[in-house]
Amino acid sequence: MQSKSADAKDQPATEHGRLGYSSLRDEVVAEGLEVDGNLPSWLAGTLLRNGPALFEDSERSVQHWFDGQAMLHRFTIREGRIGYANRFLRTKAHQAMNEGRLAYHEFATDPCRSIFRRLMTAFDPGITDNASVSVAKLGDRYYAMTEAPMAVQFDPETLQTLGYGPRVPGAFATAHPHHEPDTGALINVATRFGPRNAYRFFRQAPGTKPTVLWSKRVAKPGYVHSFAMSRRYIAHTEFPFVVNPIEIPLKGKPFIENFRWEPERGTRIFVWDRRTGESAGIFEGEAGFAFHHVGAWDDGDTLCFEYVEHGTPQVIDDLYLSKLRAGDGAAGSSRPQPRLKRVQLDLRRGALRSEYRSDQSLELPRIDDRRYLERYRFVYGIATVPGGAYDGTEALVKIDTSTGDAVQWSEPACSPGEPVFVADPGEDREDAGAILSVVLDNLQRRSFLVVLDAETMQERARAYAPHVIPHGIHGAFYGRA
Ligand SMILES: [Fe+2]
Repeated sequence: MQSKSADAKDQPATEHGRLGYSSLRDEVVAEGLEVDGNLPSWLAGTLLRNGPALFEDSERSVQHWFDGQAMLHRFTIREGRIGYANRFLRTKAHQAMNEGRLAYHEFATDPCRSIFRRLMTAFDPGITDNASVSVAKLGDRYYAMTEAPMAVQFDPETLQTLGYGPRVPGAFATAHPHHEPDTGALINVATRFGPRNAYRFFRQAPGTKPTVLWSKRVAKPGYVHSFAMSRRYIAHTEFPFVVNPIEIPLKGKPFIENFRWEPERGTRIFVWDRRTGESAGIFEGEAGFAFHHVGAWDDGDTLCFEYVEHGTPQVIDDLYLSKLRAGDGAAGSSRPQPRLKRVQLDLRRGALRSEYRSDQSLELPRIDDRRYLERYRFVYGIATVPGGAYDGTEALVKIDTSTGDAVQWSEPACSPGEPVFVADPGEDREDAGAILSVVLDNLQRRSFLVVLDAETMQERARAYAPHVIPHGIHGAFYGRA
């Protein structure tokens, strides 16, 4: 499974590495995709995917993978047939790029602006509305999200852009909100920049504006991509990749390049009691970096949660398009591979314990959402394959957190995207369901949706998309009643 095919060897790595980071300009609606294999009879609903798909205007490319313009894709599964559609989000940033000008502050790409203009637009106006990272549902509305302070509403059937969601209380927020289990309201954290920098946790119920639940003032905010929430607590992991916001307008750098790695600070974890809003402790651990928390649960007075530990923020550098297109990006880097780390906080004694749960490399982690806020056993994700950087081979992986064992699915020269778990409605067992992932075959130069049995990680079916789909970031599956 991990050997390179002869054909793949004959082509330079850059040829393969570039394909998933090339612009896709076509927008199509294709019903009745060609399907190989047998779909589970119970599988019905829509997989929505989000990710960057337009990387250059008439003159230059954006610098970073995260800065491509957002494209939505949907795979609709109904009665054993699969339909597909894709469409760009019609944002101001997309319109500007389509007109041949990079006009907005992106994650790691900036328009050319004078220092004076920067001071005038410090912190907010001009920041991108390119919501290219994730999708979320609030009430009956669907949103595309990024870390900019506004989400973009869209129609899940036509993928048409419908407008903006409410503005969040800060300069940036995560694209990984949690859902309150009983109300469906979103819980998220925004970071306020200004004379008083603060993390501001807020709640957004359907049809209402966000309300701030509690704040934590800090001198230098950290880069926040996600956080942990259990039934009782919220844990905010502050990795020592921090920014002094007052310097942003003066330095003239794109957003993320203002952050500095200060490992001597260690990692701080702020915990709040969700019912009372009171602090439940501040914990200090060794320096590290993560994008993604996985899940969290309460075990008596111990709060447990997991995230994918990268060790340092080097991964952000490795996702610059110049590196990725040269085949020298995330998979090709010599840095340590990201692994699943479990943190246990004894809230009564104020003690922190952490450990790696598996040697398996892991990113884009997902669980069976029926175990949301509860202890779960299995984590699904993507993994690097030794030697795979040469031809783009990566794997889908299932980690058993009770043993650290891992099961993989991979094919030569194929790069799978984030695996989304869909539960079999007729079974309660945690891994009874399917894994859906959009895979790019770098050699055959085509993309397909693969459907795996989540228990065995064996393939059940695949459906070929009508074009090459650039690497996506996050998505979600919405079942049909
Ligand atoms: Fe993410």
